[in-house]
Amino acid sequence: MDIVLPPARLARRTERLKPSTIREMLKVTQNPAVISFGGGLPAAELFPVDDISAAQGRVMRTRGAAALQYSVTDGIPELREWVAARLNARHGLGVCTEDVVITGGSQQGLDLYGRVFLDAGDVVALENPSYLGAIQAFDAFEPRYLPIESDADGIVPDALAAAFAAADPLPKFLYLVPNYENPTGNTLAAQRRPQVVDICARFGVPVLEDDPYGEIWFEHPAPPPLIANAAKGAVTYLGTGSKMVAPGLRVAWMVIPDRDLRDKVVTAKQGADLHSSSYAQYVFHAYAEDGARLEAHLRRVRATYAQRRDAMTAALAKEMPAHVRWNVPAGGMFLWATAGAGIDTEELFERAVRDDVVFVPGRPFYPNRDRGDGMRLNFSAMPQARIAEGIARLARAVRGA
Ligand SMILES: Cc1ncc(COP(=O)(O)O)c(C=O)c1O
Repeated sequence: MDIVLPPARLARRTERLKPSTIREMLKVTQNPAVISFGGGLPAAELFPVDDISAAQGRVMRTRGAAALQYSVTDGIPELREWVAARLNARHGLGVCTEDVVITGGSQQGLDLYGRVFLDAGDVVALENPSYLGAIQAFDAFEPRYLPIESDADGIVPDALAAAFAAADPLPKFLYLVPNYENPTGNTLAAQRRPQVVDICARFGVPVLEDDPYGEIWFEHPAPPPLIANAAKGAVTYLGTGSKMVAPGLRVAWMVIPDRDLRDKVVTAKQGADLHSSSYAQYVFHAYAEDGARLEAHLRRVRATYAQRRDAMTAALAKEMPAHVRWNVPAGGMFLWATAGAGIDTEELFERAVRDDVVFVPGRPFYPNRDRGDGMRLNFSAMPQARIAEGIARLARAVRGA
């Protein structure tokens, strides 16, 4: 006989844990007839399968036992060195190997940061809209959200300063995605970055900078990260191999220059999983250590995604009625459209799915769920012809609204 668990047995925080709209949608997209602009999937046909396979062979021949053994919580030293060296070479940062903690995806970094900062009722400041997966990770710690006005150039510094001045208590931290944001595709303008860092320093609010897309730029590289402008310890930086190489490896990194904070994060990680897969860390490192090979791969990814972005914006211009608006992101995997004409995109989603096309309705990306006209459109995962067909179907759904 099944035993039914009474809801009162579960922790109160589970009441806020709703299955993510995106994870739910991935189930629909298993159907090959469906054209999906919904998931945040990198283009699978670009994964460097042969090179990863060769890297795996090298690891097994040379480091096989270490790769299969338990390892240290903060990550294998060669990968931590690689992360520090890459950030220092790209941005002239002074990251030390000890500052780096390897995590199981940046998603784990979000969870660990929430774990060490948040008690129930604490305040988190974030862009509006923000990455749904971050809201989901922080929700487990029952915070309140302070959404900060954001526009096409990212978070608005004056609005940030005004929100902090009025906040009581101050937020525990500011979370943002400065490059080609998920969901909007917007980038925090270069001149705003030092302003944001200064405002946070003035109010003593630490910054969590989440940068999965910074290397996926199209016409020109992204501006320097916030951590480049900050006093040591003011910014924690998250990077990941998921969009650069492949998300299935679950290899990502936190740069935590503040030593006390890093110790807390490492202890929290130890309690969560002891360490990230040693095997995946060695394989990722064996693949990525050849800088020329990685650059060639990134060039392919950037060029393909830029073509797909262009295919999507061209199809939108051709198919959509005038009340639909969208941006043209300078990198990443998503663009943001607003439906206009009073259309609620959660209702639009129901019609679109009947015509075998899906996207992510905007409402869950707003921490207060107070805007329903947005849609996140992923352009990285589909070939150009499917993008054109999918946008034509979506335009039919909009016109039928
Ligand atoms: C802004 C943002 N942060 C974090 C993540 C999680 O990435 P990872 O695969 O490294 O866990 C994603 C994935 O889509 C993302 O868009």
